[in-house]
Amino acid sequence: MKKNLTNDILYVGVDDYKTKLFEGQFDIPNGISYNSYVIIDEKVAVMDTVDKEFKYEWLNNCVDALGNRKPDYLIVSHMEPDHSANIMAFVETYPETTVVLNDKALKMLTQFFGEAPKNVLLVKDLDELSLGKHTLKFVFAPMVHWPEVMFTYDKYEKVLFSADAFGKFGALDYDDPEGWDCEARRYYFGIVGKYGVQVLSTFKKLEGIEVEKIFPLHGPMLLDNIKYYLDKYTVWASYEPEDKAVFIAYSSVYGNTEKACFILKDELEKLGVEVHIADMREEDFHEAIEDAFRYDRLVLASITYNGGIFPHMSSFIEALAERGYKNRTIALIENGSWAPMANKVMEGKLEGFKNITILPEKVKINGGVNEDTIAQIKAMANALK
Ligand code: FEO
Repeated sequence: MKKNLTNDILYVGVDDYKTKLFEGQFDIPNGISYNSYVIIDEKVAVMDTVDKEFKYEWLNNCVDALGNRKPDYLIVSHMEPDHSANIMAFVETYPETTVVLNDKALKMLTQFFGEAPKNVLLVKDLDELSLGKHTLKFVFAPMVHWPEVMFTYDKYEKVLFSADAFGKFGALDYDDPEGWDCEARRYYFGIVGKYGVQVLSTFKKLEGIEVEKIFPLHGPMLLDNIKYYLDKYTVWASYEPEDKAVFIAYSSVYGNTEKACFILKDELEKLGVEVHIADMREEDFHEAIEDAFRYDRLVLASITYNGGIFPHMSSFIEALAERGYKNRTIALIENGSWAPMANKVMEGKLEGFKNITILPEKVKINGGVNEDTIAQIKAMANALK
């Protein structure tokens, strides 16, 4: 769909409801958008392409937006194929277009396509390109989410084209009842979360630049209240908790560990603590990662399984480790009928996490919940409150 965003900037991206798992792992029941933009000025620039499945829809959107103009530039912010797949199709359609990108992106482009476009303009960090009224400033954003990523700041419209940053799951024509935060947070911690330091370094380069609108590569264009989104991203990228609450993630098979977790939830709520709880057998894996980062306290509860912990819990802790989980308090609950090992194994997996307090008040269940278990749970609740 073509849509005017400002006098000179048009949206030419597409909605994807076909893909079930984005990047092969993120559940996207409400789709996702691949955003692409056209800036019409004395020179015309197209900002990024879209996923290969949507080549013709996107090219048609471009034709529609360009009218009788020809594109002078195709700006490449990111070489991940959900945005770059149609670069060569575009230059075949418009052979006089100059592809604007940095040297890392050109190397990747050649790796993906086995050839390079005929006309290339290599840019360096903070270089500028005039389209007429619009001057584009390229701000390299390495590792947000790949090393070649660059933001583009339109000095005339004060628009920041932010690549994957500020992206959100959900197609553009899906009116998300949860607003922006939830699926933007799941996207951030799922996809960019490992690179908080690099996000903050890029933001530092943007200091002093007035941003009135943010146009990301996924999800809605952010048209006002920009400080709100920048503040959210700054908290997320800093690995600091966003909200005060306990998140209980449990792996239970026959319901006894689950029962203990719900008793803990009740005890905490009696103490006035906000609690969120997730059964790792059923919970969306990346929603659980999001909640672990969102809240300041985490309870991990697992059965003992093959002398270790339940596979979902193992993957969950590894996913937190990959993303540099830190600055939180963690409590551990284990269950084991003959040789309980889960707390020891979980504690071992948490070694190396920075600035994590593991509470000494642990819970050990030997099969079923009994009075002794309940006393341990009460002690844990008091330590967590
Ligand atoms: Fe939307 Fe990193 O690609």
